[in-house]
Parts: sequence; C-alpha cells; structure tokens
Amino acid sequence: MSAAELSIRGLRVGIAHRHGVDEIVRGVDLEVASGEKLGVVGESGSGKTLTMLSVLQLLPSPLAVLGGQVLLDGEDLMHADERRLRAVRGGEVAMVYQDPMSSLNPLLRVGTQIVEALRAHGVPVEAARARTREVLGQVGLPQPERIESSFPHELSGGMLQRVMIAMALSTSPKVLIADEPTTALDVTIQQQILDLVSALQAETSMAVIWVTHDLGVVARLVDRVAVMYAGRVVEQAPTRKLFARPTHPYTAALLASLPGPEIGHRKPLHQIGGTPPDPAHLSPGCPFRARCPYAIGRCAVEEPGLIDRGSGSVAACWREPELWES
Ligand SMILES: Nc1ncnc2c1ncn2[C@@H]1O[C@H](COP(=O)(O)OP(=O)(O)OP(=O)(O)O)[C@@H](O)[C@H]1O
Ligand code: SF4
Ligand SMILES: [Mg+2]
Repeated sequence: MSAAELSIRGLRVGIAHRHGVDEIVRGVDLEVASGEKLGVVGESGSGKTLTMLSVLQLLPSPLAVLGGQVLLDGEDLMHADERRLRAVRGGEVAMVYQDPMSSLNPLLRVGTQIVEALRAHGVPVEAARARTREVLGQVGLPQPERIESSFPHELSGGMLQRVMIAMALSTSPKVLIADEPTTALDVTIQQQILDLVSALQAETSMAVIWVTHDLGVVARLVDRVAVMYAGRVVEQAPTRKLFARPTHPYTAALLASLPGPEIGHRKPLHQIGGTPPDPAHLSPGCPFRARCPYAIGRCAVEEPGLIDRGSGSVAACWREPELWES
C-alpha cells in the first residue's frame, strides 16, 4: 500500500463522569491511502461514528479524545489549531453524515448551501456557482439547475444523498468519509451511490472511508474492510480475503447472515444471537465471547489484540480459524 493519506493510530474516546472516565472507542487503528477505499463495518454502538467524528475533532461534549493520533498526509490533526481544523473540515477532509437533513439547512436552497460552503473555503462566488452546477451534474442528478434552486424538503432521500455527496466533493477533498449516508435507503440505492463515488474517485485519487452496518453493501466496492466491535477493530483484511476466509468469528457470523453466493460453501452460523456489549462497561476477556460459538477458557480472561493472519489481514481472536470447531 502507498503512504497513508489518513492514518488513525491508537484512538481512544471516552466520556467523563463523577466516578471516572468510560472508554468507548478503545484503541482504534485505521488507515486509508490515496485512491483507496476502506469499508468500516460494525453493529450499532460499535464506535464507528465517534471514531470518524474524532478525525475532525467534532465530538460533542462531554465526549472527548483520550489518546491517539490522527495524521493527514503526515500532519498531526490532534495538535492542529482551530483555524487549521476549519480549513481541513469540508476542505481536505469531507464528511457525509448519517442524516442528510441534519446537515442541510431547510430554509436555504440546495445550490446556495453548496456555494456558501465553497465560499467559506475561499472560492470566489462565480467560480463557486460554476463548481456547484458541475458537482450536481457529476453525482448523476437530472436537471442540476432545477436541483440547485430546490429546497431540501422538495427532494427525495436518494436525491438528498447525492446532494450531500456533491457538496462533499465540491472542494476536491483528499479524503471523503461517508458515515452510513444511506441507512434509510434501500441497498440498491446505497450501492449506486457507492458506485458513483468509486467512479469519481478514479479521476481524483481521493481516499474514501465508507462506514456502514451492512457488509453486503461494501463487498464489491471497497479494497479493504475493517470490522468494528465494542469500540475496537476486530478484523481488518483485503475485501476478497475477508469474504473468502474470515479470521474472526464475528466477521464469519456477519458473512453468514448475508444472502448471496459468496457464503454458499461456508458452514452457516445462521444468525448472530445476543446483542453487542456496551463498550463502556465490558467485563474482562474478549468482548465477543458471550456470542461466540468457539470461545475457550482464555477468552474469558484476556482480551486479544490484533494478531497477524497473513495476506494483509489481522484479527483480534485467540483462535486460528482451523481450530474454531475443535
Ligand atoms: N453523545 C454521547 N454521549 C454518550 N454516549 C454516546 C454519545 N454518542 C455515542 N455514545 C455511545 O458511544 C457508543 C458508540 O457510538 P457510535 O455513535 O460511535 O456508534 P456507531 O458504531 O456509529 O453506531 P450506529 O451504527 O448506530 O451509527 C454507543 O454505545 C453510544 O451509546
Ligand atoms: S477470542 Fe475467543 S471469544 Fe473472542 S472471538 Fe476468538 S474464540 Fe471467540
Ligand atoms: Mg454511527
């Protein structure tokens, strides 16, 4: 892999209260290179959004970064001043949030909002207008002039997602982080939007982090997948490898719960029973053990760190996949 465009190292996020600090994101390492697409997958509450918000120091109080580094092309963003961060946000690093309606002003026309965002990054007004029309066309919206003069409530969910992607792309970011931009939409639309971003990425070599609940959505379209569970990355691997031979039981369970031919040869786990633990209140040992069909004694005592599984994959599990059933 070429040098990382964005690198998150040992990130810890927590929430302070009277009796101490609850750690919710518990040492996350992720990186994405220029031109690469990384999928970040995990159940609700696994810490995906908090990790991404930390990149731009946008955590809502009382949440706070407890430790770790965020490097953008080698520059440590954790120590950047507010002025520099404002330039990075929506400039070099663009983020598309979970809920488009929360990021758009309902009272302003869509075009005005994109123009304003560009102007905030120093683009002169005429150039901002031209760029707005250009990006609205690039994201496959029919009649960009009409969309430009629409208010958000006049557009469908799928159209709003495309508007959000257009706004994110308008400043030609080095890194695009899309935090589950399509949760409320059906899987076909999710894949269309990711397809679109892939096509645009081929021209710009931007790095993309695509955050989702749904492993199926990213299967075809990302280069690598990081699976998060209870505030940590529990497996990271090249996409093809992860689908062909998962090395963490949680990934195996996620794959088995997907429809599709990729899993036909694998012994199904059918579904993942139980619920994920609250990362702030974990008992000792592996956080997945209450749901893991392969747990052994050691799993209740010691939490595994990421272990090299070869071919670019790592997994936080004490057991080699060959031994799962024994
Ligand atoms: N503002 C907050 N105050 C306290 N706890 C929070 C806050 N925001 C998130 N959390 C907790 O942090 C954990 C991780 O949240 P996060 O939003 O990162 O999860 P996620 O993986 O993005 O989930 P989802 O898939 O539902 O978006 C959750 O257990 C959540 O309850
Ligand atoms: S460490 Fe143990 S409990 Fe955790 S996933 Fe591996 S086998 Fe299961
Ligand atoms: Mg989230």
